[in-house]
Amino acid sequence: MNQSFTFEYQRLTYDELTPADQQLTDAAMQALDGAHAPYSRFQVGSAVLLADGSVVTGNNQENAAYPSGLCAERVALFAAKSRSKQPIQAITVVARNAQGEMADAFSCGNCRQVMLEYAGQQEEGMRVIMADRTAHFIVLADTRQLLPFSFGSETLG
Ligand code: THU
Repeated sequence: MNQSFTFEYQRLTYDELTPADQQLTDAAMQALDGAHAPYSRFQVGSAVLLADGSVVTGNNQENAAYPSGLCAERVALFAAKSRSKQPIQAITVVARNAQGEMADAFSCGNCRQVMLEYAGQQEEGMRVIMADRTAHFIVLADTRQLLPFSFGSETLG
């Protein structure tokens, strides 16, 4: 039997974001400068908002031994979770290409999997805001929509 999966998202300009989401986006933009991306020359910045209002940022960290590097989202998420038990309210992601232009900051599957696991530990949804190359922002109310049929949702949940 055919089944389908759909989800809703918003595509907003910066000015259409809430002031809180603008602030979180600004933090992710600032984090871009800390990226260590000499191999891909693709910089990614991320900012995580915790329930107590604190913000933890991250950026992609590459390595000459390629798999040793890590995406910006996971740098931010792991840093946040390593220092706080606060639920995560939102995560923003922005990216800049080698030409210094905004690029699609659509989180990879590994990062979505990590978001999902933390989201599963909290009552409230984890909002995800991802910038695109046209300086619009894809806003999802909850990260669960980003990875249907994810690993661990039943066994670990
Ligand atoms: N990257 C991220 O930081 N986040 C993602 O979700 C996808 C990719 C980084 C990894 C690598 O340093 C560079 O972007 C190019 O793939």
